[in-house]
Amino acid sequence: MKMVAVKTVFMVLLLSAMLASMVTEAASKNKVKRVKPPKPVKPIQEILTCKSRKSKCFMKRVTCPIECPKVKPKNPKDKACFLDCYSPKCEAVCKSRKPNCNGRGAACYDPRFIGGDGIVFYFHGRSNEHFNLISDSNLQINARFIGLRPEGRTRDYTWIQALGLKFGHHNFTVEATRTQKWEDNVDHLKLSYDGTELHVPKGHTSEWNSTKGDIQVERTSTTNSLTITIPDIAEISVNVIPVSEEDSKIHNYQIPSNDSFAHLEVQFRFFGLSANVEGILGRTYRPDFENPAKQGVAMPVVGGDDKYKTSSLLATDCALCALTPNNIKDEHDRIMMGSSMLNCKGGGNGITCKK
Ligand SMILES: *[C@@H]1O[C@H](CO)[C@@H](O)[C@H](O)[C@H]1NC(C)=O
Ligand SMILES: *[C@@H]1O[C@H](CO)[C@@H](O)[C@H](O)[C@H]1NC(C)=O
Ligand SMILES: *[C@@H]1O[C@H](CO)[C@@H](O)[C@H](O)[C@H]1NC(C)=O
Repeated sequence: MKMVAVKTVFMVLLLSAMLASMVTEAASKNKVKRVKPPKPVKPIQEILTCKSRKSKCFMKRVTCPIECPKVKPKNPKDKACFLDCYSPKCEAVCKSRKPNCNGRGAACYDPRFIGGDGIVFYFHGRSNEHFNLISDSNLQINARFIGLRPEGRTRDYTWIQALGLKFGHHNFTVEATRTQKWEDNVDHLKLSYDGTELHVPKGHTSEWNSTKGDIQVERTSTTNSLTITIPDIAEISVNVIPVSEEDSKIHNYQIPSNDSFAHLEVQFRFFGLSANVEGILGRTYRPDFENPAKQGVAMPVVGGDDKYKTSSLLATDCALCALTPNNIKDEHDRIMMGSSMLNCKGGGNGITCKK
């Protein structure tokens, strides 16, 4: 009897010990599962300064907004922090790194421009010819137009296929390469600096700088978009896109099946234009400019083919071209832009912009 009782006690002990160990094991498993959520990482807001003495913000430390803490965000979809050193308001703002076709300085579609004065206008030019967009004492930007003229139409439908930049004694070109069938993940950008083709490896934030740092190129997505910076002078964001089948249908462009009409969507920001700036887009930044674009019409077209036509992508021979690379510019001449951010509402032709 005694032996049985001892055995029973022993068994009970053993069982309870096993049970206890199972419970603690389960508890410890629970513990492992009950991990504290990771502390939210505080975005580090970058601090920017303007190093040019001409800037109103010279040496001021300006903190990026919490909504866009970084100048070069890792995610291509995130907004970037931007400080315009030549705006009288010395504050950093958030902006998309891709061109905003509804913002000041945009040149998109069959070219539709938004001037420095916030006025929307079209300039058609002609296909396979070159026109000057910006001409100032230290900067010139020409565009090559491609396009087509369906039978019975009185003018060419045109798009901007390439830009030619001249600054100091340097040349830079950016082109959309011709392609029969468009594919998003294939790169359609071609670049050159002083006549030599550049290869900026594919990939978001992949970059190239000239040896003197007077021009910088950075991809803003894996393929087909980038930002070109000429420090203290201009920043140009560029996208390559095809003419979509939908647009072709709506506007009856009659795009042939063997060409996607890959072209550029562009947005310019200028930091030191003079009051005498010329060019189809440039002149709209003059303080005294009166835009000939008719307000309130569906497609306010402006002319000027004769004044702004150049003989090639890098030529400075238009009737009103103003580039004088050997002259030192009078700094008092510099136009202070109110704010580089401009809000435009609506779409298509019903667009209106507020400064
Ligand atoms: C820039 O382009 C022009 C026109 O094509 C050419 O005459 C000049 O030599 C080029 N300059 C450089 C530095 O490549
Ligand atoms: C290019 O220049 C920018 C601005 O000066 C700098 O932040 C960047 O590190 C440079 N990149 C290369 C690859 O030299
Ligand atoms: C594309 O097709 C048109 C006719 O539709 C033809 O004239 C043109 O030469 C073709 N282009 C190429 C590059 O094959």
